[in-house]
Amino acid sequence: MCGIIAYLGLQDAVPILIDGLRRLEYRGYDSAGIAVQVDGITQCVRAIGPLSALQKKLSTIELAGNTGIGHTRWATHGSVTEANTHPQQSNDKKISIVHNGVIENFQSIREFLSVQGFQFQSETDTETLANLISYHYSKELESPTQDRFLESVRKALLHVRGTYGIAVLCSDRPNEIIGARNSSPLVLGMGKDEFFISSDVCSFAQHTRDVVYLHDNELVHITGDHFKLITLDREAVEAVRHEVDWDTASAELNGYPHFMLKEIFEQPQAIENALRGRISGDLSSAHFGGLQMTDEELHKINRIILCACGTAWCACLVAEYIIEKFARIPVEVEYASEFRYRNAPLDQQTLIIVISQSGETIDTLAAMREAQQRGLRVLAITNVVGSTIAREADGGIYQHSGPEIGVASTKAFTSQICISILLALHLGRLRDLSFDDGIEIVEALKKLPEQVESILLQSERIRSIAMRYKDCSDMLFLGRQSMFPIALEGALKLKEISYVHAEGYPAAEIKHGPMALITPQCPIFFLACDDHVLEKIQSNMHEVQARGARVIVVAQENSAIHANAANDIIFVPQGHSAVNPILATIPLQLFAYHMGVLRGHNVDRPRHLAKSVTVE
Ligand code: M6R
Repeated sequence: MCGIIAYLGLQDAVPILIDGLRRLEYRGYDSAGIAVQVDGITQCVRAIGPLSALQKKLSTIELAGNTGIGHTRWATHGSVTEANTHPQQSNDKKISIVHNGVIENFQSIREFLSVQGFQFQSETDTETLANLISYHYSKELESPTQDRFLESVRKALLHVRGTYGIAVLCSDRPNEIIGARNSSPLVLGMGKDEFFISSDVCSFAQHTRDVVYLHDNELVHITGDHFKLITLDREAVEAVRHEVDWDTASAELNGYPHFMLKEIFEQPQAIENALRGRISGDLSSAHFGGLQMTDEELHKINRIILCACGTAWCACLVAEYIIEKFARIPVEVEYASEFRYRNAPLDQQTLIIVISQSGETIDTLAAMREAQQRGLRVLAITNVVGSTIAREADGGIYQHSGPEIGVASTKAFTSQICISILLALHLGRLRDLSFDDGIEIVEALKKLPEQVESILLQSERIRSIAMRYKDCSDMLFLGRQSMFPIALEGALKLKEISYVHAEGYPAAEIKHGPMALITPQCPIFFLACDDHVLEKIQSNMHEVQARGARVIVVAQENSAIHANAANDIIFVPQGHSAVNPILATIPLQLFAYHMGVLRGHNVDRPRHLAKSVTVE
């Protein structure tokens, strides 16, 4: 949930660390800090609030050094105070550490260290780890000097239960940094005469694209101009280098006021990227490079379980409708956090598919590992290349959406649906989806970027609609069939960005309870983009209007729903039933965005949330 960055090289570390933290702020933004090696002392500066508070503090301090670590925090242990901000230091200030993750057994370690005379200034699990390393450092006098620091970190980690991505400094070793990971992402970057360690490549991609992804239970020890990788058991690890091909410019705002808006507007491109090279018009089918399954193996699948969290879970629900309809394979959708613990009956013909934008969500990762442990094959749909889920899956499909920085997932969601449609097409054509039905889907997908573009042109109009509802405190989103998950996603987006309480329901369910909420202060969004149940949804609209509800409708152009049938209506292009969920999503994203901005919120950094949830 937090972001870490470390730098060792010839340049001044402070601006590099601050710029890295700025790019990592999406991972946590309640406080930030850096520690830099200066003349055998590790100087630490921390501030609560956004990164600008730390920058303000730094502007009054002389701090120059070539080795340092930085952290942007999303609080897990302890409230948001300066004492709880990272870097955390050992009692003697020799060891400084930044940490992303949770040390589960920190209480017992703390008790042990208290008996040894250590004292604690913060409520964090991380300070415990700093002192545990310090404890081993003081015991490691027998180790050769060059190994003493590494051995003390390694030995400390052997006692730790939980998750961590860490970077550690030792004031006795001014040209060294140690990084280590267990279930929290960590990547090493290698530039010319410089090294980086971070939770995310985006924090240093403007300096180097040459990276090594650490695996669980691995440590990296940077000493001056070289590095080595070892396991917690002290086995040497061969570094596998990757070239990152992300366009760093896409991690900039490029004139947009917020990343969320920029990413909403990037959807035509993101959809094209998801489709590129994967459609076969001749065969009226789709194909993928990384599934690692033969057509014969795919043909044998008789059940699919889709697992994810949050918005990616909503994408799974859309995929359920699409795969069942076009490929005729039974699909179940699970919250990854529930699947992991519930011991579902599984057999070898069941395919597990996990969906995760970041590829680092801990519950999704754990669900994947649980399925693999039980001998099942797992495919992953992920956006972040080289992420843990992408690397550990048995096969997968990359989204190629480009970096998604806004905490609210937008372009990743529509891209995940696109890929689900391609997958349904592929699986369907291996079964009994006809050539003609396949071609209709292919044609609909090809038109999609342009259709999305046309909806984006309505952004200002959607803003003026949002103006009329900006003061409401509750809202309902209703849809039927594949519009039901879009209702859930619309409600989720509104909640997280505007803090308006919102719920999504299958439209017919409203009569079974939620109707009691209806007042003019609780507007209702209807998603009426499914012809097949259009009359039914119109009846539901009349039912709530008869009870005084204000109604906003998303309908298809040329729909039987007239412009005056609702308080506000947003038309989207007529699409194929497979792509309608994507078309219906765009107005909801824009509505949530404008509501959030009109209500004065920081839409890229909604309160209490972080982009990537790497703690349970
Ligand atoms: O990176 P992931 O797709 O695994 O993330 C899953 C959820 O944490 C994420 O979709 C979250 O719900 C978003 N903030 C929603 O906009």
